[in-house]
Amino acid sequence: MASDEGPLVDVVGLVKEFRRVRRVPGRLSAIRTFLNREQDVIRAVDDISFSIMEGELIGFLGPNGAGKSTTIKMLTGILTPTAGTVSVAGRDPSRERRANAATIGVVFGQRSQLWWDLPLRESFRAVRDLYGVPNGEGDRRQAELVELLEMDDFLDAPVRQLSLGQRMRGDLAAAMLYRPRLLFLDEPTVGLDVVAKQRIREFVGHTNTESGTTILITTHDLEDVERLCRRIVVIDHGRVLYDGGLAELMAHYAPYRDLVVTLAEPHDVDVPSLEQVDRNDRRVTLRFRSDKIKAPEAIAAVTATHAVVDLSVVEPRLEDVIARIYTERGLPDGPP
Ligand SMILES: Nc1ncnc2c1ncn2[C@@H]1O[C@H](COP(=O)(O)OP(=O)(O)OP(=O)(O)O)[C@@H](O)[C@H]1O
Ligand SMILES: [Mg+2]
Repeated sequence: MASDEGPLVDVVGLVKEFRRVRRVPGRLSAIRTFLNREQDVIRAVDDISFSIMEGELIGFLGPNGAGKSTTIKMLTGILTPTAGTVSVAGRDPSRERRANAATIGVVFGQRSQLWWDLPLRESFRAVRDLYGVPNGEGDRRQAELVELLEMDDFLDAPVRQLSLGQRMRGDLAAAMLYRPRLLFLDEPTVGLDVVAKQRIREFVGHTNTESGTTILITTHDLEDVERLCRRIVVIDHGRVLYDGGLAELMAHYAPYRDLVVTLAEPHDVDVPSLEQVDRNDRRVTLRFRSDKIKAPEAIAAVTATHAVVDLSVVEPRLEDVIARIYTERGLPDGPP
């Protein structure tokens, strides 16, 4: 039974180990190799817990090999956990894979789920049949998706002839044809040009706000995250490093702004409450704590004492904070 109370997704103490056979070197027979083989255990997911409430749109981040795709495969029932529990709409995905399939949509950016030799239109037909979507509703839904994702021009082309951006739109539409409550997007913008990325982002945002679909999105493009997500879960080495709001993350770990000024003459700037963090000839970067001093006051303090010919205020970059989480394997408790 799908439960309507509590989180839509609940993951507790999730672990996934892969075993890889390490061959013992030497010019020995297959039998000897078999007897001597040793197994390397890779703990791709190492005690992960988090939950997702209905209606959320969460960024699931982490460096290459962090365990993101492995986690998504356990949430979708493709892989069985080594330990821990997963509940998706009240079901265990690996035990009730078929029942779970109607609840979730999945897009793996690196690998299409569509039928390679079929025209896109036929792939959609196959998905509708597979999920038992009634004809009238299926037609309406398909027309809506074709319009939203601007797919009219290539509906009759076989999937293998589509460009990456067209194929990705096809995959997204296929995943939404049967109106799943929950959508897993594993790198849906990988390899796309800026316009194609924007189109996908708009669709993802629209799907969350207009259809109320709960979405977990994995991406290495932090602009996807800044545009779409209020909450992020960051993992590495199979462990959660951060789970919380994006705004809270920035306010806590990057509570500063940079005032970049171009001076009439090249020299250092010494103003109370501002720290000079960089200077390149006449261009000086001054950092101030945004919780202690407001931007207009910082500007006034500099322009009152220095001949300034140009200036701009620069927000801290999410990229820098995320890079710090990756390199420091988490963040120390408390502001820097
Ligand atoms: N089937 C498998 N057999 C053995 N090891 C695997 C298997 N699948 C994944 N791994 C390993 O598990 C770890 C996590 O891989 P995973 O694909 O989940 O990472 P990811 O966070 O999705 O990375 P990326 O950002 O590069 O997609 C890696 O070390 C990977 O080599
Ligand atoms: Mg991956």
